Amino acid sequence: MTEKTGLFITFEGIDGSGKTTQIRKLRNMLERSGRGVEVIREPGGTPIGEKIRSLLLDKSNGEMFSETELLLFEAARAQIVNEKILPALRAGQIVICDRFFDATTAYQGYARGLNLKDVGSINRFATGGLEPDLTFVMDLPVETAFKRMQSRTGETDRLEGEGLEFMCRVRNAYLEMSVSEKRIVVLDATAPIEKVFENIERKVWEVLKS
Ligand code: TMP
Repeated sequence: MTEKTGLFITFEGIDGSGKTTQIRKLRNMLERSGRGVEVIREPGGTPIGEKIRSLLLDKSNGEMFSETELLLFEAARAQIVNEKILPALRAGQIVICDRFFDATTAYQGYARGLNLKDVGSINRFATGGLEPDLTFVMDLPVETAFKRMQSRTGETDRLEGEGLEFMCRVRNAYLEMSVSEKRIVVLDATAPIEKVFENIERKVWEVLKS
């Protein structure tokens, strides 16, 4: 669907899984090797997307229906795909995205219980069929992730406040999705930061060389 020449890498996992740290390390490593890198986060990453992000994460929007939530995530995604991701990939850059449509399948599909076929169709509509080349799922027990989040400063957002059972559904969803999707690599996010990164680095070089 796209005449992309770059590489599209996404990071997924429950909240508190350590994606941000690994993304920063990967960006530094790739930039040091002379590659053009664009780091993006979802939802958000564009002026319109950031406004949608505030709506989605605002705790006072407790009355939001799952369908509304799904469409808002997809609206932000359609914007970032067209405004940022596709142009960067066409320019031959490596795009690293903190979450992409797998998050919608896991959170809105498996965890909220929206119809998975519908979620798949809307994902495809929003992305125009764009798929990551490589996806890292940072996996860890929900209790460990919650402890990590509690030690952070600042308030939890609307989705982080969903509780243990919800996050267990999200975690299991990612694990299930990894079985049928070859591009998904599951990493043990309880391992030391450097150890996790070694696995990421190895896999990224493997894909870059292929
Ligand atoms: P972040 O904390 O990783 O920036 O993501 C914001 C929250 O939004 C996080 O709890 C995961 C959630 N989310 C979804 O529920 N569906 C989606 O499609 C995306 C991209 C994020």
